[in-house]
Amino acid sequence: MFVLEKRKLRDIEVSKVGMGCMAFSHGYGQIPSENYSIEAIRNAYDHGCTFFDTAEVYSPNLSGIGHNELIVGKALEDVRENVVIATKLMLHGFGIGSVYKTIRSHLEGSLNRLRTDYVDIYYLHRMSGVPVEKVAEAMGKLIDDGLIRGWGLSQVDVDVIDRAQNVTPLAAIQNIYSMVERDSEREIIPYCMENNIGFVPFSPIASGLLSGKITPQTQFERNDDVRNWVPQLSRSNIAGNQPIVEMLKSFAEKKKATPAQISLAWMLHKYPNVVPIPGSKNKERIIENLDSANVELTDTEFTELEEALNGLKVYGHRGLGGF
Ligand SMILES: NC(=O)c1ccc[n+]([C@@H]2O[C@H](COP(=O)([O-])OP(=O)(O)OC[C@H]3O[C@@H](n4cnc5c(N)ncnc54)[C@H](OP(=O)(O)O)[C@@H]3O)[C@@H](O)[C@H]2O)c1
Repeated sequence: MFVLEKRKLRDIEVSKVGMGCMAFSHGYGQIPSENYSIEAIRNAYDHGCTFFDTAEVYSPNLSGIGHNELIVGKALEDVRENVVIATKLMLHGFGIGSVYKTIRSHLEGSLNRLRTDYVDIYYLHRMSGVPVEKVAEAMGKLIDDGLIRGWGLSQVDVDVIDRAQNVTPLAAIQNIYSMVERDSEREIIPYCMENNIGFVPFSPIASGLLSGKITPQTQFERNDDVRNWVPQLSRSNIAGNQPIVEMLKSFAEKKKATPAQISLAWMLHKYPNVVPIPGSKNKERIIENLDSANVELTDTEFTELEEALNGLKVYGHRGLGGF
């Protein structure tokens, strides 16, 4: 079996690159068949991937619950002890009594669908009015219960992270991060490094932009396709961002790698606590992305890339606020 280098998210060991499973259910148009999705996840596992990301809300058009967790559960059931599964819950107020009871009832649904009796990393998907200290306390109890190994937050700023960390230490923060979405570099990633928290970038290929395969003529799908509103992917911003894509393409050619791999290798070189979770519905591209773990940049190459990037304007910005 293929082996990928490992990294740690606090004390949880994962492959250096993980796999985002969302697009098998939501977000990038037409979904593949369940069989294809399961095979794609198993191929990734056979290729050394031990870190799989899902969420309770990943279902077609975000209607219903658990489509994606069911697929991930079926794919990984018989190798469960060899992999790290991360899933997320969405809180809408206090629900059934206490924050702990509410979170636990969401978790029990996820455990059933994932065919497991524990989740490795359980994230709060978005802040939603419940004080983060209460969530942190409940997550601490779930760790004591043996139902989760660690917990995390998604799309949060450093103040929220610090308040949570002081109650129950975090395993990971999952924020948007890529060569064109770099807000987390200012305070959040340094805070995570200082406090032994893993940082898990979502949309690390900027929803496909950094693969070099998207042009201003690319038609996205009409139904359930986030690329219709990703700020860097409006027609004019795709055109504006071409110098970044061209820079990546020429760098990739020299390194005998692909632009997507270089964009992932860049963040892996930059920070030791970063573990990206690129997403793809395509078996071959999933393997291509995992292989970025083997694209080593020298310090000189990294500096060249970083300086080139810093010299180019990014068109479109999502950041941590809003959706
Ligand atoms: N916490 C959150 O709020 C949050 C939000 C969004 C996503 N996520 C998680 O993060 C994961 C990744 O994010 P993402 O899927 O939004 O963004 P992404 O990984 O940056 O990009 C996915 C898009 O890029 C394309 N792509 C991927 N690799 C490629 C390659 N090597 N060559 C060409 N095209 C490539 C995919 O197309 P193909 O499918 O055609 O390959 C897809 O359209 C998700 O699966 C999900 O688990 C979390």
